[in-house]
Amino acid sequence: MQINRRNALAAFAVAPFIPTRALAACEESAALPSLKKAAAEKALIVGSAISVLQLNDDDKALFASQVSSVTPENPMKMTVIRPSRTDWKFERPDAIVDFAVENAMQIRGHTLIWNNDKQPDWLNPLSKDEMQAVVDEHIEKVMSRYTGRVKIWDVINEPVGTQPFGKFSLRKGPFLERLGVDYIANSFRRARSVDPHAKLVLNETHTERDDSFGLGYRKALLTLLDHLLDQGVPIDGVGLQGHIQSGVPFRPDAFGVFLEEIARRGLFIEITELDVNDDKFPDDVTARDLKVAEAYRRLLDVVLANEAVKSISFWQLGDRNSYYYYRASYSDPSAARRPRPLLFDHRSRPKPAFNAVIEALQRAPARA
Ligand code: GLA
Repeated sequence: MQINRRNALAAFAVAPFIPTRALAACEESAALPSLKKAAAEKALIVGSAISVLQLNDDDKALFASQVSSVTPENPMKMTVIRPSRTDWKFERPDAIVDFAVENAMQIRGHTLIWNNDKQPDWLNPLSKDEMQAVVDEHIEKVMSRYTGRVKIWDVINEPVGTQPFGKFSLRKGPFLERLGVDYIANSFRRARSVDPHAKLVLNETHTERDDSFGLGYRKALLTLLDHLLDQGVPIDGVGLQGHIQSGVPFRPDAFGVFLEEIARRGLFIEITELDVNDDKFPDDVTARDLKVAEAYRRLLDVVLANEAVKSISFWQLGDRNSYYYYRASYSDPSAARRPRPLLFDHRSRPKPAFNAVIEALQRAPARA
């Protein structure tokens, strides 16, 4: 069986609710500085991915005190919402949207169309016209359900890949295969017509890497953006995921130039899925936590210096809820070493990474 987020979640139940732990976490979080307050002082937004598993009292308190934006981690994806062409499952995204609205949080709709090889099997036999109809009805139905509550959408996730397609380098998947590169432009146009007030984002991965792979992604993304903007496609912003990899080079100056390239195209920027894969960092927890904190600091110092950047979102807040943690627990349940990619440990205690982010926000230049 392929390991993915869904079956890993099923295999590893979350920790039981323990009132004393909840109390301790509350006391600790009450004394903590707040990411969202530090960000607000610079007219920035800090957010996090969230799943329905975090809709418990402990996690809800942590999210409410620390972030002003949430991104449904998986529940709004087509794979979850549409087990078949005609079945629509909105319970999980509805629960997250309700939580966010109750707490006056912004919601990043993630994601309308994600062209990759993990999309629902029922897409495979569709003809070109049927595929276009599915894309249109999907955007229409999902966006209109949340109009007025979800105001920013990742319309397209991860379009870039290694598949040559004319002057483009794109990711393989059913939408590209059946509809060609126009699946991207048409999805943005559709999204604009469904909700003219929503901000529409193209979300991409790997661009913070300074190896040839990441540099290829930067180039391919700019080529694609120019193509879309030249045609008047309604894109408002670019999401850069920021899944930082240990052991992969990162050059702040070069990344800063790339951010400026996006900004000078008139687009806003969001860092949408920040975390640090610590697999190449030392086993020793203290040393590793410092390395993770340093990786956040290096990225955020250059990111927050660019005024086109409007928000930063983490891909969960606590280590135990990280995608990397689930993946590692699934592949080696008895391993002594566990990933520590995020800002809070398994008891919701802040780690050096948390302080590094607070300090980066405090150092950031004030925005107009
Ligand atoms: C990508 C997607 C996210 C999530 C991560 C892995 O970055 O955009 O939704 O699936 O992969 O956790």
